[in-house]
Amino acid sequence: MTDVGIDAIEIHAGKLKLDLPGTFAPAKGEDPEKYTKGLGLHASSLPDVYEDIVTMGANAARKLMDRKGLEPADIGRIDVATESAFDNSKPVSTYIAGCLEQVYEGDFRHANKGERKFACVAGTQAIDDAYNWIRAGRNRGRAALVVATDTALYARGDAGEATQGAGAVAMLIDEDPSLVSLSTEQGYGSMDETDFLKPNQQFPSVDGKRSVQVYLARMREALTDYESVATDTHPDDFVMVPFHTPFPGMVRKAALLGYRHMIRDTEIEEALADEIGRQPRPEAFEDDESYLDAIAEYTDKLKGTDRYREWYARSIDPTLELARHVGNWYTGSVHVARASGLKHALENDLDITGKQLLVASYGSGAQAEVHSETVQPDWEEEIAGLDIDDQLAARRDITFEEYETVHDVHNHDEETDVDPFTSPEAEFVFDGWGRMGERQ
Ligand code: CAA
Repeated sequence: MTDVGIDAIEIHAGKLKLDLPGTFAPAKGEDPEKYTKGLGLHASSLPDVYEDIVTMGANAARKLMDRKGLEPADIGRIDVATESAFDNSKPVSTYIAGCLEQVYEGDFRHANKGERKFACVAGTQAIDDAYNWIRAGRNRGRAALVVATDTALYARGDAGEATQGAGAVAMLIDEDPSLVSLSTEQGYGSMDETDFLKPNQQFPSVDGKRSVQVYLARMREALTDYESVATDTHPDDFVMVPFHTPFPGMVRKAALLGYRHMIRDTEIEEALADEIGRQPRPEAFEDDESYLDAIAEYTDKLKGTDRYREWYARSIDPTLELARHVGNWYTGSVHVARASGLKHALENDLDITGKQLLVASYGSGAQAEVHSETVQPDWEEEIAGLDIDDQLAARRDITFEEYETVHDVHNHDEETDVDPFTSPEAEFVFDGWGRMGERQ
């Protein structure tokens, strides 16, 4: 059966940079090391006043179409994953298609368009939908465009303000993909949760501490479910493990629990037994917190072992390099983590063709999903095409006062005629309600 997976990827970062240890922490009277060491963040990418989920998504999609030489006729499906949608009726994909139709010959009348919502895991769900559409033979030779786009902003004063970000990831899902092929096996951990929600409100209501526990609990369930269908989940089977990354400190916790889970009953647990003992296997536990308590002593020792440190440095750390400088992009986040890992591999001449990634997605509300991917022979060419380093370097570094103005604009507290901080050329810009144009 033909492989299906991600053929190409493009990233668009918000044009503004909020320096977290240098600008944000001092303004909040906080220790900068809470950001750099605790949360693992150096900067957030924020949207300029003319950027929103449509313009960022359309700009990422346009770059992808240009690089791959695509016309609208080549694309049979456009799915947008977002938790920042502003329209409860029309999907954001229609707005993005409208932008793209301004600059390409032809249109997307033939394309099925939709919007996927399940917090941050929706980007992966949209890829799944595209995969299933292609594997079902309904694509008529066309590829699917998946765009994960979000402005991840929190109310001022909310603890989540430290982990903000904005950006879009566009991905082309196709047969015989150049980047990664997707496996059919998946594992899920899903439960009705209320730690993070946005019922008809601009910024989320968040129980931050609980959200961390829910992430870990659902991820553990997804790994267990994945093990029931996949041949193996030995940690050394995977060259990298990109996790959903609201902030790198979250992934530090998830990776440790994931590793503990994967080494159970393997030669690794055996080899570590003299050093740190065998891990407890709490079968029954009252809630997520008591489960974490039951294994805390073991995981504390595990994270200090050379074996774990080496695995983390090889399999996890490279996937966090971009997140440290952009913050949380919600639906795009795990896809930024994958791109970050592959970019690291390219820059360090790692031979990863044919190797497996274990991709661990998560969305509040809550659902975790785990699947594996196989790195394809043309991955280097695809990753070499990314210009994310240039985009990050070109961002305008804003002051705290400018940050407050931009935040107010995106909360619709201010008129959008606040002067932009940057000046893009030949990109889609938000120019007032209903006017989404190309800036010449
Ligand atoms: N030096 C070194 N480390 C420091 C430090 C210092 N001076 N000060 C604090 N730290 C450490 C803390 O010990 C803590 O680390 P541990 O968790 O390992 O103990 C870390 O820095 C963060 O400090 P706090 O816990 O004090 O930070 P906080 O309470 O202000 O906020 C948060 C943390 C609750 C996660 C908050 O950022 C938040 O609400 N974020 C939004 C919700 C979120 O991202 N949840 C993640 C799971 S849900 C999800 O993944 C979906 C999604 O995308 C939102």
